[in-house]
Amino acid sequence: MKHISQSPIDPAFVQNPYPFYDRARALGPVVYWDEYKMPCVFGFAAANTILRDRRFGREVPENMRKPIAPHTAPFYAIEAHSMLELEPPRHTRLRSLVLRGFTSRRINAMAPEIEALCHELIDAFPTGRFDLLKAYAESIPVIVIARLLGVPEAMKDQLMQWSHDMVGMYQASRTRASEEAAAKASSEFSGFMRAYVDERRAHPGDDLITSLIQAEEAGEKLSTDELITTCILLLNAGHEATVHGIGNGVKTILEAGGPRDWLSVENRAATIEETLRFDPPLHMFTRWAYERIEIMGHVFEPGDEVGVMLAAASRDPDPWDAPETFDPRRPTKPHLAFGVGLHFCVGAPLARLEMTAALPILFERLPNLRLAEPPRYSDTYHFHGLSALMVDT
Ligand code: HEM
Repeated sequence: MKHISQSPIDPAFVQNPYPFYDRARALGPVVYWDEYKMPCVFGFAAANTILRDRRFGREVPENMRKPIAPHTAPFYAIEAHSMLELEPPRHTRLRSLVLRGFTSRRINAMAPEIEALCHELIDAFPTGRFDLLKAYAESIPVIVIARLLGVPEAMKDQLMQWSHDMVGMYQASRTRASEEAAAKASSEFSGFMRAYVDERRAHPGDDLITSLIQAEEAGEKLSTDELITTCILLLNAGHEATVHGIGNGVKTILEAGGPRDWLSVENRAATIEETLRFDPPLHMFTRWAYERIEIMGHVFEPGDEVGVMLAAASRDPDPWDAPETFDPRRPTKPHLAFGVGLHFCVGAPLARLEMTAALPILFERLPNLRLAEPPRYSDTYHFHGLSALMVDT
């Protein structure tokens, strides 16, 4: 296994990690990334294989668990019940409960209100130069997920702040201060959810929280702690990535000289998928090996952790021709922006619905939309999203 070195907080890398991915992929199917102290896979075949292989999983093997620093305890108290960090049987139980409430009927029924929300936000745009991320991309996902769960949307700024502080735990730029902020946000968020769930028990509605409460009250399936964590996970996961799915998508289309006919009714779904392949908002997830497993000539021992580089996999020249070109007309092939296998994104249908409303409506309403300055990505790797998207109409 060859080694490669690259700081994930190096500004040039944060702005454009793709040349590094190409270099790493050329070194072989499994490459040791020195700064992460971990073997990583940068090619599509290996990433796809590992994510689908049940001998790898997200749950940390017992003998590999590290003691939790007391100042981060409130964060890990929530994470302990997160389906994203668990494997069957707990993962299966939690995920199936969410899926029961997250039906395609409920998601699709939101289409008209998502479209109406996009129009309302555009109506309120300032004239001249403004930050589209703030005025549009950030608002849609948080309002939609709050409505779906049944949390007051007036809390959107507070929800976003808690969520930003919590996801700081996954970022390469993590520091003692960001750990403390994450712990504080975790305590406040779970305190809020606990009180809010009690209130919803007394006043049930037609929303996801009510359906999760009913599962909890049926006694069979969901503890209160699991219920609280699931709501927090959905609120956080439900908007963090989608904001940057929209932001990166608009940037990509504008830089490619679009939208031309890319967002017509017949082309929009393929165009959205191509934006997610070309510049996805989440670049890396890890897996633990639970057995001795050979993948493309590399042997993983039980307890090895491996980085699966989703964004690098989606730029692999096998299976994509000219992967560095944004081409909405290319033949559709599955990309890995939403993962694959057991942890495949629960919210993918909702994220797709939001993006296929937000982008076409934006460009229909503002046909002269253009970049007012070169957009810059935030120093939040493995998240890959813009810090602002200054545009002019
Ligand atoms: C463009 C937007 C989004 C992207 C790129 C994205 C990406 C992902 C990825 C890559 C995973 C798998 C992680 C892994 O395999 O380790 C995942 C899991 C997950 N996502 Fe998303 N996501 C998006 C939007 C959403 C939305 C809108 C929701 C909720 C409403 C959501 C909820 C979840 C949940 C709950 C999981 C954990 C699933 C499990 O562990 O079984 N995501 N997402």
